[in-house]
Amino acid sequence: MLDAVLLNMRPHGRISACGMISQYNLEKPEGVHNLMHIIANRIQFNGFLIFDYYHRYYEFVEKIIPDIRQGKIKYVEDKVEGLENGPAALISLFKVTENLHSTKHYPLHARQPQIPPKKKKSRSHFSIIVAGAPNLIAMAAELVPNKKVILKNYITGFVKETDMELITSDTIQLKLPEGSPGLIVKNLYLSCDPYMRSCMSKHDEPNYVPEFVAGSVITGLGVSKVVYSGHTDFSVGDFVWGVIGWEEYSVITNPESFSKIKDTDVPLSYYTGILGVPGLTAYIGFYEICAPKKGEYVFVSAASGAVGQLVGQFAKLMGCYVVGSAGSDEKVDLLKSKFDFDEAFNYKKEPDFNAALKRYFPEGIDIYFENVGGAMLDAVLLNMRPHGRISACGMISQYNLEKPEGVHNLMHIIANRIRFKGFLIFYYHHRYYEFVEKIIPDIKQGKIKYVEDKVEGLENGPAALISLFKGLNVGKKLVVIAHE
Ligand SMILES: NC(=O)c1ccc[n+]([C@@H]2O[C@H](COP(=O)([O-])OP(=O)(O)OC[C@H]3O[C@@H](n4cnc5c(N)ncnc54)[C@H](OP(=O)(O)O)[C@@H]3O)[C@@H](O)[C@H]2O)c1
Repeated sequence: MLDAVLLNMRPHGRISACGMISQYNLEKPEGVHNLMHIIANRIQFNGFLIFDYYHRYYEFVEKIIPDIRQGKIKYVEDKVEGLENGPAALISLFKVTENLHSTKHYPLHARQPQIPPKKKKSRSHFSIIVAGAPNLIAMAAELVPNKKVILKNYITGFVKETDMELITSDTIQLKLPEGSPGLIVKNLYLSCDPYMRSCMSKHDEPNYVPEFVAGSVITGLGVSKVVYSGHTDFSVGDFVWGVIGWEEYSVITNPESFSKIKDTDVPLSYYTGILGVPGLTAYIGFYEICAPKKGEYVFVSAASGAVGQLVGQFAKLMGCYVVGSAGSDEKVDLLKSKFDFDEAFNYKKEPDFNAALKRYFPEGIDIYFENVGGAMLDAVLLNMRPHGRISACGMISQYNLEKPEGVHNLMHIIANRIRFKGFLIFYYHHRYYEFVEKIIPDIKQGKIKYVEDKVEGLENGPAALISLFKGLNVGKKLVVIAHE
């Protein structure tokens, strides 16, 4: 039922994890597969134990007794007589009648009206649009070559380099028709981001990221230089970041969704990472969603990636104890030596994640910054401390699977009164400049470090993107198309 409910939750929905009776008699709880919807719909999944609220009992009774008396609240009881019938009465709780059982066979979404996905009202910095050069612009201007990477077809399963293709025959005119308010940008740095995998599949259900167009240029976040402007807010020579095509030049028809880069005395490539979406994700996900306190125990998965390396450093600056997991010894060394994590471990060498977490967190975890999902999430649930928070940022281990793995230990959300909250950074663009103002001094003073993993040349873009899902990147992965 929980799996079906997750498919039907509205944005910002709340799940009150009160009980999971279907699981109480099982030796191993069933797996819940649809947890990625917690992120996509920014759901808050809160466990509670009523023992914590006994002090509210008389307030509740005073409120409900008049309602009972006035018949506003009804209550059905099922009584049996005699102590000798107690065991049967208790057991009856767990015996589902034929009739009730049959409801299991009706998926909720078949009975409820489908809510159409909300249209975006405003264009944020992060609105994901399809960039690319319209072919219909007829004018006399010099044509220049415009190499690009296209998605050949929609995919299922693990993404491969051959799912993409470098096209070298296209050209572009570096001028727009008179009066057109668009821009032409020369693309410098392309960001490789895990969400791009979701754009490569045909979506059967509404998804928070749009599909790429099969046979067309793939799009993603990147840093560019304006080479033609029909928009009063942008001048030739400005540096900007936003959603561009994986191509040498892009025509931008929505310049208002682009951020002008004001601070150019830091590496421009940082606007794909620490000063772009991954940076803001770490900032909001840690400070806002995790609500950390000094001295708490923090665990970060995919800890050496674009987001994770920052979360760990933020947690250290706050005075927390921080442990990260990563997929190679080189990354583990980096976490401890460069990013100041207290401890780190190579999860690929750990046969039992639960045992590993118990070793690093003998007293349990207060905060889990969730980047990977699947088996690691299951093990973390066994190790959370009471009132712990899980920031559901991403579940990369699931992105290439046709059916997500089941997560079995969700009952610990109730037992430990955990808050498991999903978020999407696209909805926090209004916090971007606050974040940049705060982090740039920290970068300049060396308080925050950032590791990038750059490859040169558009032709190496497909391999770079795939490397994320094989854990081959060390730090923020990006493709350099041109230096300026
Ligand atoms: N909620 C949001 O709005 C939002 C915004 C940005 C990013 N995200 C999410 O945040 C997470 C981190 O993003 P990022 O940009 O930091 O990623 P990244 O730098 O691209 O790092 C990805 C890393 O994930 C690890 N990984 C890949 N496959 C894995 C698997 N099967 N099991 C375990 N780990 C695996 C790999 O590191 P190892 O060597 O450690 O395996 C890889 O280097 C992703 O899940 C992403 O989708 C969410």
